[in-house]
Amino acid sequence: KEKIKVGIMGFGVVGTGTYKVLTENSEMVKNQTGAEIVVEKVFVRDRHKRRAVEIPESLLTTNPEDIIDNPEIDIAVELMGGQEPAYSYMMRALDNGKHVVTANKELMAKKGRSILEKADSAGVGLGFEASVCGGIPIIRAFKRSLCTDKVERIMGIVNGTTNYILTKMAQECSSYEDALKEAQARGYAEADPTADVEGYDAAYKMAILASIGFHSKVDINMVRREGISKVGKRDIECGKELGWTIKLLGIAEETEGGLEVKVSPVMLPMEHPLASVNGVNNAVFVNSEAVGELMFYGPGAGQMATGNSVASDIMEIARQIASENKMLPNCSCFADKVFAEECS
Ligand code: NAP
Ligand code: HSE
Repeated sequence: KEKIKVGIMGFGVVGTGTYKVLTENSEMVKNQTGAEIVVEKVFVRDRHKRRAVEIPESLLTTNPEDIIDNPEIDIAVELMGGQEPAYSYMMRALDNGKHVVTANKELMAKKGRSILEKADSAGVGLGFEASVCGGIPIIRAFKRSLCTDKVERIMGIVNGTTNYILTKMAQECSSYEDALKEAQARGYAEADPTADVEGYDAAYKMAILASIGFHSKVDINMVRREGISKVGKRDIECGKELGWTIKLLGIAEETEGGLEVKVSPVMLPMEHPLASVNGVNNAVFVNSEAVGELMFYGPGAGQMATGNSVASDIMEIARQIASENKMLPNCSCFADKVFAEECS
């Protein structure tokens, strides 16, 4: 196949970044893929809204069927966020034999199993690299590299917005409200920032990482969660006086009672490698039997970093299509061994 056609659903922060990476680096992408990746349609709510990037008007559509039911489209990319209609569109695209790429951590945490099962039974690719830690290729690291190792603990700063807020409060004495506004203006926060500040977003990401890392069925309802909305200036100042810093940490580890996954604000000594992860950056610290200690670091949110993760998933699938390889199962183990049953 010489042209691989992509339909993007949602053209906000991540949709724009994905479009920019694919179009600005099209020659490089083509050289590595063996085929041209063409953005054929972009589904939006309002065709006349001012966009952050110039895009031919003919690409824009307000009808999702132009992507999910369009036989021309090879890869449907879901970048709208939220549960519905994103879930229905993704499932219909898979039913129609399309490969799917998404950045939607809420959907992957709550419905990942049914999505993966459908993709695997249809023999199509499902990419969700951008759902965890923005620009850091962490899903790939777990699926492709740590798949032969036994993971003992995953500990990470997995939400950019809260790390940005905590850093601003600690380093510039910003108020919580001002720092949150800035994070929103920079495109880091979720449409409803409650998901960030109350730890839901981090809980979704830890459920995904723990599912893949521990080859386990992690029900999002079993993730203990506390956000940063109760962290005040005084807490931060007290920590500083003692040489500690406050971070919103996700931890997944095997305990005597089984796999435990939690998200909460934690006081870290300044010498800890995660203590110096500041601003929108994320980091994931992994302890495993064979490798030992590993740390992955980089921007956890934002247009171009996240757009690159989406584009890299698109390219990986496009390579498979171009080479006419049989699509591999989407998880290192089969979908029924990872991700919990559907939950809401
Ligand atoms: P965003 O800027 O709010 O963009 C969402 C886009 O989807 C907008 O263009 C919006 O249309 C469109 N949309 C939403 N609901 C729709 C509907 N029902 N019908 C049609 N269009 C709809 O969001 P984002 O930050 O790009 O996030 C998108 C996804 O990526 C989310 O799942 C998010 O969690 C994930 N993610 C985001 C980041 C980040 O840094 N922002 C990083 C990693 C993952 P309008 O333009 O008309 O509003
Ligand atoms: N709102 C999310 C964050 C976007 O701040 O980390 C990246 O997933």
